[in-house]
Amino acid sequence: MAVVNFEFLIWVCSVFCLISVSVEFDPPDNYLIDCGSLKNTSVVNRVFMADDLNSRLLSTSQHIFVNTSSNSLSSTFASELYQTARILIGTSHFTFPIKKHARHWIRLYFFPFVHQNYNLSEANFSVSCQNFTLLRSSQLGIGPSIKEFSLNITSDNLVINFTPSADSFAFLNALEIVSVPDELIPGTVGTVDPPGYTQNLLHQALETIFRVNMGNKVVYPQNDTLSRFWVSDKPFLKDLNFVNFVSTADAVNYTSGGPSPEIAPSAVYRTASMLNSEFDPNTKANVTWFFSVDPGFEYLVRFHFCDFLSPNLTPGPLIFNVYINSWSVASNLDLSKQTSGILAAPYYMDVVTRASDNNKLSVSVGHSDVGNVYPNAILNGLEIMKINSSRGSLDASDSDIPHLQLSSKKKIGLIVASAAGALFILLVLSSVLFLKCMRRRKSSRVDINGVKVDDTGSIASASKAGYRFPLAAIQEVTENFSESLIIGIGGFGKVYKGVLKNETLVAVKRGSSYSQQGLAEFRTEIEMLSQFRHRHLVSLIGYCDEQNEMIIVYEFMGNGTLKNHLYGSGLPRLSWKQRLEICIGSARGLHYLHTGSAKAIIHRNVKSANILLDENFMAKVADFGLSKAGPEIDETHVSTAVKGSFGYLDPEYLTRQQLTEKSDVYSFGVVLFEILCGRPVVDPSLPREEVSLVEWAIKWRQMGRLEEIVDPLLAGHIKPESLSKFGETAEKCLVQRGSDRPTMGEVLWNLECTLQLQGGGGGSLNEKPELSLQTDDAKPLESSISTAQFSMGSARDIAGISMSRIFSEMMKAEMR
Ligand SMILES: *[C@@H]1O[C@H](CO)[C@@H](O)[C@H](O)[C@H]1NC(C)=O
Ligand SMILES: *[C@@H]1O[C@H](CO)[C@@H](O)[C@H](O)[C@H]1NC(C)=O
Ligand SMILES: *[C@@H]1O[C@H](CO)[C@@H](O)[C@H](O)[C@H]1NC(C)=O
Ligand SMILES: *[C@@H]1O[C@H](CO)[C@@H](O)[C@H](O)[C@H]1NC(C)=O
Ligand SMILES: *[C@@H]1O[C@H](CO)[C@@H](O)[C@H](O)[C@H]1NC(C)=O
Ligand SMILES: *[C@@H]1O[C@H](CO)[C@@H](O)[C@H](O)[C@H]1NC(C)=O
Ligand SMILES: *[C@@H]1O[C@H](CO)[C@@H](O)[C@H](O)[C@H]1NC(C)=O
Ligand SMILES: *[C@@H]1O[C@H](CO)[C@@H](O)[C@H](O)[C@H]1NC(C)=O
Ligand SMILES: *[C@@H]1O[C@H](CO)[C@@H](O)[C@H](O)[C@H]1NC(C)=O
Ligand SMILES: *[C@@H]1O[C@H](CO)[C@@H](O)[C@H](O)[C@H]1NC(C)=O
Repeated sequence: MAVVNFEFLIWVCSVFCLISVSVEFDPPDNYLIDCGSLKNTSVVNRVFMADDLNSRLLSTSQHIFVNTSSNSLSSTFASELYQTARILIGTSHFTFPIKKHARHWIRLYFFPFVHQNYNLSEANFSVSCQNFTLLRSSQLGIGPSIKEFSLNITSDNLVINFTPSADSFAFLNALEIVSVPDELIPGTVGTVDPPGYTQNLLHQALETIFRVNMGNKVVYPQNDTLSRFWVSDKPFLKDLNFVNFVSTADAVNYTSGGPSPEIAPSAVYRTASMLNSEFDPNTKANVTWFFSVDPGFEYLVRFHFCDFLSPNLTPGPLIFNVYINSWSVASNLDLSKQTSGILAAPYYMDVVTRASDNNKLSVSVGHSDVGNVYPNAILNGLEIMKINSSRGSLDASDSDIPHLQLSSKKKIGLIVASAAGALFILLVLSSVLFLKCMRRRKSSRVDINGVKVDDTGSIASASKAGYRFPLAAIQEVTENFSESLIIGIGGFGKVYKGVLKNETLVAVKRGSSYSQQGLAEFRTEIEMLSQFRHRHLVSLIGYCDEQNEMIIVYEFMGNGTLKNHLYGSGLPRLSWKQRLEICIGSARGLHYLHTGSAKAIIHRNVKSANILLDENFMAKVADFGLSKAGPEIDETHVSTAVKGSFGYLDPEYLTRQQLTEKSDVYSFGVVLFEILCGRPVVDPSLPREEVSLVEWAIKWRQMGRLEEIVDPLLAGHIKPESLSKFGETAEKCLVQRGSDRPTMGEVLWNLECTLQLQGGGGGSLNEKPELSLQTDDAKPLESSISTAQFSMGSARDIAGISMSRIFSEMMKAEMR
């Protein structure tokens, strides 16, 4: 009996030893310094050493210690560390001997307080380590902050440089250099956005920008063997309605095969935010967190999971999807499969993503659509680490976002002396279906919009915001540019249909020309598309500039160009309602371009061939190769090529070379008539007075007989009020003086009104707004429209209420 019990005990012990990881990480390198302090300071269970005047670790010209008695620190973690600081005059270096070559955390504590001799807010300096710029003082806030970096140190010394600007100084409140366990940062990580590739992390510098514990609980350093601070997720949640904060008091099952407590402590795995299970099971939802990030960087995102709910979860099971922005990270994730059926075992996933363009990175967990799974989803923790830019920097000012040149001067190579000359070229250019992208001229040094692009191929470094595909990947996607996959050919390149590893369909445009203009347009296109993301602008997936290629990868648009659906092809024609939806969609896209950023972006090449339709006939504006920030007035007419497409060009721009958003409004007016009449903009085969669509349509409109020239297929299907409003809107877009034309916001409003007058369009009006329409920006042309004009269906019987009020309600609904 006793023997059996003894064996049983050994068995229990071996199982126990297997599932418990007891050895705590003891960092081989561990320097903690309380800068500017004369005494040792203990913070929780660690001691920060007094700052030593004779220290061999620091090389600096003067030793200046300052302190504050600021009482704003009382509730701050480690407030003692912030009370003192060291001032560094002139370039100064900390040099730390390193015992173990590996990743090290560099944690820098800053609190810019005001001292009688030094106002720390006025310090101007940068911090670098091992050729990486870690930060510039302009990024420091006004309160206390800890900046955490991790670098793989492969030399015997770790050197941190503080470099103040000539007339200023640097400061530091405290410093930590601590070894990171090897398992913590993997060597390579797979990507989403787009998925299926890998990023090598061995020699990248990382900055932890968010370390979040889900379940609305802060985890303090004393509860983390690596003294990390985990903030609560609540402030990042988009919508609290769908969330339950859950926790358990039970132990977490750390196993030898799974993550150790170094990956994340049990305090993190024991709490979670979960999709509210009282939520109506028929409605699908996500739990979403939003994080502000610097655009132009890649990010390592780590998801921590621990299912401590099953098998008591009712209704179960726990199977869910995980997303970053709209990219899928995991679908139908079943945690029990990941942990070999062991309950309450931690699990984590790493992915590398690039930042979303609007400075926000969103993370969601939500309903899986497999079988009949009840909507359940959890997340226990999340870490977001910024990866250094191609310039070897982590500072926001050194991102890989191509900075727009907003000055009105530019030095594009192509010089066109006269508008006539330009027109000839444009006539040729305009036949191209998609953007012409051209091969970069070999080993030349060109100057595009004032940005130097040299022969080392730095288009890539300047435009990293889009995903840079290896050429091999593009070849795979297009079956080595198979002729059978060509979906469009223009004078300047071919467009292929392709499929990414995650089965996303893409359009791959490959340039084949050598001109500088091609290079400029290639670059502009990438810059524009990577900065402006909108449901009605065609999205950039990536690009490739290896081996002098100029390849852009876009989302695939199943129904091709709007133009092909209007005339000259055998495709089925669009109904009036479909056409109006397309007008509204493309107007939204253009309105966003004009108003979505501080400086308006002018598309400059609005035409029916540049409006693409997805499989649901949703319109997206494409081809940003000619876009630019505006408005601008060129003093140097000669150096500027008038660009655009023949038949769509704003006459005012042509004669005065004054480029404003209203030039796009003009071109859009041309498109409106093209859509209404279903004929080319210029058709030389027609009688003289009919050659120009614009002149012809305006003449009939002014005679009040527009119905006689509409696309014969639409005849009898357009309500007179709708036609009249549409004609009026198009005509206003086409007036000679740009300043008299409506804004895109007004055009959009009028088109929505046109759709309403046709008695439809719930769909487009209920469309979730991606831009917030400013109400004053989108006012009707007339402040109020008499209800008598309307013939609405009974469901929309709104007699007695002024239309402007209804529309302003709709606008408000849109803005929600
Ligand atoms: C701080 O602590 C270290 C090591 O524990 C000790 O050697 C040193 O004398 C202390 N310094 C002060 C100023 O107390
Ligand atoms: C703050 O500075 C004053 C004068 O420089 C010094 O006497 C005092 O000891 C310092 N306090 C601390 C906590 O270092
Ligand atoms: C310290 O400098 C900041 C930034 O220049 C300034 O806003 C602030 O007023 C200064 N404070 C004092 C007390 O001089
Ligand atoms: C920093 O860059 C210089 C020059 O490029 C190089 O020689 C040196 O090895 C680099 N140092 C580290 C630590 O990478
Ligand atoms: C900081 O120094 C840099 C380089 O000397 C200078 O360009 C920048 O304008 C300075 N910033 C401030 C806020 O003084
Ligand atoms: C650090 O770099 C060395 C040398 O390239 C490499 O062997 C090691 O795996 C790297 N360590 C980490 C944690 O990335
Ligand atoms: C954190 O640590 C403290 C002290 O060690 C302990 O009392 C507390 O229960 C821990 N909290 C969690 C959430 O583990
Ligand atoms: C959850 O978010 C993803 C990504 O944005 C989206 O594709 C999906 O439709 C959402 N699911 C639900 C149920 O709302
Ligand atoms: C840990 O795993 C074992 C084996 O699956 C399970 O019996 C136990 O309940 C788990 N512990 C917790 C706290 O769920
Ligand atoms: C980070 O910097 C290293 C060294 O400068 C560079 O090789 C690497 O490409 C950079 N990372 C990114 C994502 O650009």
